[in-house]
Amino acid sequence: GYRADDDYDYLFKVVLIGDSGVGKSNLLSRFTKNEFNLESKSTIGVEFATRTLNVDSKVIKAQIWDTAGQERYRAITSAYYRGAVGALLVYDVTRHGTFENVRQMAERTAKPHRFQHCCVLVGNKADLRHLVAVSTEDGKSYAEKESLYFMETSALEATNVENSFAEVLTQIY
Ligand code: GTP
Ligand code: MG
Repeated sequence: GYRADDDYDYLFKVVLIGDSGVGKSNLLSRFTKNEFNLESKSTIGVEFATRTLNVDSKVIKAQIWDTAGQERYRAITSAYYRGAVGALLVYDVTRHGTFENVRQMAERTAKPHRFQHCCVLVGNKADLRHLVAVSTEDGKSYAEKESLYFMETSALEATNVENSFAEVLTQIY
């Protein structure tokens, strides 16, 4: 039947965490608007977007907060983790440093905020196959060790983007 825009059963806040340039904003725009931008600007501070999903005949409204990856915003962005029930920890499969940093962020932020039980580790830019610097096995084994879900995505090709968000949201639910 018909449902108004603000008619939902659950509202879940989810945050996107990861280094600058790993593709957080494009994962979000792919998920909420089915849009991708090759020349997107670096996020300043924090932005958010929403999308509703149906799970088990319930309507889940996902409020997804996209935080700036640049170090100088870190003090501001971590304030937005409050109240989040899930997180996508994003790295870029072509830059090993982003994998190391997301692991540090997981330690520093996800654990203290207690949303690690609904965290998905996301290796984005999987379309750049010839440039891969973090193997699927490395991503998977770190995720297993930390009890995180694991997914390799491409915001560009729209691969596994839906699955990554759906994984977090259904786990929370
Ligand atoms: P900050 O806002 O600075 O934290 O960066 P971000 O993580 O939001 O990265 P953003 O989404 O702005 O993407 C950075 C660059 O990577 C842009 O040029 C995107 O077009 C590109 N990009 C994002 N996702 C993908 C992807 O899946 N594949 C490829 N090839 N490029 C991508
Ligand atoms: Mg951004």
